[in-house]
Amino acid sequence: MKFFLDTADIAEIRALAALGLVDGVTTNPSLIAKTGRKMAEVISEICEAVEGPVSAEVTATEHAAMLAEARALRKLAHNVVVKLPLTADGLRACRDLSEEGILVNVTLCFSPAQALLAAKAGAAYVSPFVGRLDDVGHDGMGLIADILAIYDNYDFATEVLVASVRHPMHVVQAAKLGADVATMPPAVLRALINHPLTDKGLAGFLADWAKTGQSIL
Ligand code: G3P
Repeated sequence: MKFFLDTADIAEIRALAALGLVDGVTTNPSLIAKTGRKMAEVISEICEAVEGPVSAEVTATEHAAMLAEARALRKLAHNVVVKLPLTADGLRACRDLSEEGILVNVTLCFSPAQALLAAKAGAAYVSPFVGRLDDVGHDGMGLIADILAIYDNYDFATEVLVASVRHPMHVVQAAKLGADVATMPPAVLRALINHPLTDKGLAGFLADWAKTGQSIL
């Protein structure tokens, strides 16, 4: 499973990329706005900090304008993946851009039908939003299971990029289902690492070691 960070905070990205556990980054207009910086600067900086794919989302909603924005975003760095909303214009632009060799992440996916369309449009990634479905009483992980079953039936190349992740169990459940990618806020990646019994056990080892008076070096 690939781990992407869902943030535009370059300091957080650099800190966690240093762990060697970050395979890519996803952003969206809200995450860019949160930085208070120019989008082109932020995306370029992220693309330098992370070797893997970096999703940058268009804000146009009409086909021709989406294409223009997508091509401009793609020129920022070799590892830019263009993010398009799952709308009719977004799917049409996805088809065109995919045929040009530009990788597309189709975002704001909330149903198996939408995910099927994203694959047919040639998307490199589809981003089903599990947390937002859970937030309104729907089964976010059930959507992931449905999408993976459909994609397996037709051998689609589109990668399932589980998004809107709220906690470590979303990541674990997505991994059990076999999703290709989970994109998560920095806090969730940190929560995956931490366990109180690990901390307690390490403290116990070090306390016992200290009593020996030895040192390894
Ligand atoms: O960036 C796409 C998605 O992960 C955002 O989800 O629900 O945390 O805004 P959310």
